[in-house]
Amino acid sequence: MLDEKGFDLWANGYDQSVKLGEISKRYPFVAYREVLNEVYRLIKQTNSKGNILDIGFGTEILTKKIYDDGYLITGVDFSKKMIEIAEKKMPDAKLFQSDFSDGLPQEITGMNFDFIISTYAIHHLDDKQKIMILKQMLNTLTANGRIIFGDVMTETVRDMAKLKKKDYDIWDEDEYYLVAENVQTWFPECTVEFMAKSYCSGVLVITK
Ligand SMILES: C[S@@+](CC[C@H](N)C(=O)[O-])C[C@H]1O[C@@H](n2cnc3c(N)ncnc32)[C@H](O)[C@@H]1O
Repeated sequence: MLDEKGFDLWANGYDQSVKLGEISKRYPFVAYREVLNEVYRLIKQTNSKGNILDIGFGTEILTKKIYDDGYLITGVDFSKKMIEIAEKKMPDAKLFQSDFSDGLPQEITGMNFDFIISTYAIHHLDDKQKIMILKQMLNTLTANGRIIFGDVMTETVRDMAKLKKKDYDIWDEDEYYLVAENVQTWFPECTVEFMAKSYCSGVLVITK
């Protein structure tokens, strides 16, 4: 599992790694663009210029696009290098260097967001940590707000097991991917919608 120093080193080469991953048409980055575009489309379809929290924004391929559209951006990432790059591109964004395995930084827990998004980052948390941060996210979401995850993901536990079998040669055992049916079990009071974007990835929308 990469720590913040690992991500610092990956910061300059990350976009290229993703491109190569897309070309390979394999797990994990096969439908990277489609996943990010779907998250973007879901935000834009509301037509509002709301508050967005991005967890693990990285080289902010998606975040910068939303920022340029006039949304207010708050971001969390533990990589100093990713933050340095992001601060130059999005000077008005509120960016926090923080490890989200400890939950949301305190400064954020009192804020309200119309969208909380996270692409290709939430898999760094195990299920217990995911439940903890999801509870915090739900508390900071406006009444009509949405949490949107884009990542390696399947609808069912069975599909995830099949996926792991298919890509066993390159499977990353240190990453814990979202399974839509688990999220619904953890939060039965929420609406959980899964949209597949490739054989191994998708977008998950959670509403209160
Ligand atoms: C694979 S990149 C994804 C970046 C971007 N969201 C995207 O879709 O391309 C994962 C990002 O999450 C950050 N990250 C990973 N684990 C983290 C943690 N425990 N706390 C804070 N940031 C973390 C990394 O620094 C990196 O910027």
